[in-house]
Amino acid sequence: MSSNHSIIQERTARTEWFLQDRFGMFIHWGLYAIPARGEWVRSVERMSVEDYQTYFDEFDPVRYDPKAWARAAKQAGMKYAVLTAKHHDGFCLFDSALTDYKSTNTRAGRDLVREFIEAFRAEGLKVGLYYSLLDWHHEDYPAYGDRIHPMRANENYAREPETFHRYVQYMHGQVKELLINYGRLDIMWFDFSYDHMKGETWQATELIAMIRSLQPHIIVDNRLDASGEEGGSIYTKKPVSYSGDFASPEQIIPPEGVVDDEGNSLPWEACITLNNNWGYTAKDMQYKSAATVIRKLVECVSKNGNLLLNVGPDALGEIPRESLDILAEVGSWMQKNSASIYGCGQANWPKPEWGRYTQKGNLLYAHLFEESIGPINLNGLAGKVGKARLVADGSQLFLSRPWNAAQYPDDAFLSFAKPESASYPLPDQRATVVELELI
Ligand code: GLC
Repeated sequence: MSSNHSIIQERTARTEWFLQDRFGMFIHWGLYAIPARGEWVRSVERMSVEDYQTYFDEFDPVRYDPKAWARAAKQAGMKYAVLTAKHHDGFCLFDSALTDYKSTNTRAGRDLVREFIEAFRAEGLKVGLYYSLLDWHHEDYPAYGDRIHPMRANENYAREPETFHRYVQYMHGQVKELLINYGRLDIMWFDFSYDHMKGETWQATELIAMIRSLQPHIIVDNRLDASGEEGGSIYTKKPVSYSGDFASPEQIIPPEGVVDDEGNSLPWEACITLNNNWGYTAKDMQYKSAATVIRKLVECVSKNGNLLLNVGPDALGEIPRESLDILAEVGSWMQKNSASIYGCGQANWPKPEWGRYTQKGNLLYAHLFEESIGPINLNGLAGKVGKARLVADGSQLFLSRPWNAAQYPDDAFLSFAKPESASYPLPDQRATVVELELI
């Protein structure tokens, strides 16, 4: 049994690449792309396995081209990706020997996980798999009386609690298959714990020991131990073996980042949808703008966190056009500005009024979201900045205290052009990035 101290040390070593990479793609894909009402459709609409069977019978993603997905991720500046190998509906996108409920038995006839892994690796991206701890298809998973199961109100689905261990065995067996059959994986993303369905209910100590013995470098999220509502013991100085390597705030960016109970920063990754659904939802057009995505990525990094941005490919296997367009625009910004993202983290300076800072060593990156009137105020930085350059093109910017800033001796002032006392529009309305060399 490792001590808390060594658990934290090992976590720090394992997550080093993760904290450099900062930006990943989440992919929610499964049978639920056909009803196209989100990945919870079975639960929300209380569909039985039989009701849902029609989607299994139809599933035929003829346009599945994971190489195209990988190119879109890479072009957006993403460094890793996580695909739903199995979601709550229990349907497996991989060729598991432990179930018939898998993509190889559909018209697809392919191991979709294998193709995903090969395609993303070929683009130089790290690969992770999402695996649902819940399983609404398995006969030994609690149904009647469970808070979430599609058959929660149907007495015919009362399960014998004594048989639950068969599900746990199945779940461990599938995780083992994923770890043995697909080469080196970078992330194992479990989802999720709730009520008493957490920790040792999943036999988490044993599960994590198996994971660490097969792929010691792999990083694991915190959801074996925690639900979405609470973070679990990773948030404390006393993490257990299955507390996970990173926290996974969902659809929220934590106000002050994520710290343990002594205020030390923890590895974390906000998972965020592009519209308001994880799984493909034909009618959901509430997409975030590329500018919002860019600013939220900056916000995560400014708080020492990562952004895992979701796409929900459709039933035929294509990422929606709207999502691809946003990713392409984020990519055009990243192509010019990623030096302010990769390997960067929280700055030693508080959040400025016009945007956010990120920092890497002596380079302080000012991300300007808001135009200023007159020179741009760098609070408290008088005499501390050597030079300023626009990250997008390396061009010189101006540091001085023009006449209209004379009353603020402790601050430095930045201008895009001369005269420095004037106002200038931001070169990039989404986020203009200025590299400030600290001296
Ligand atoms: C959840 C949901 C889910 C989604 C996930 C992403 O807790 O159940 O459908 O996969 O979070 O974080």
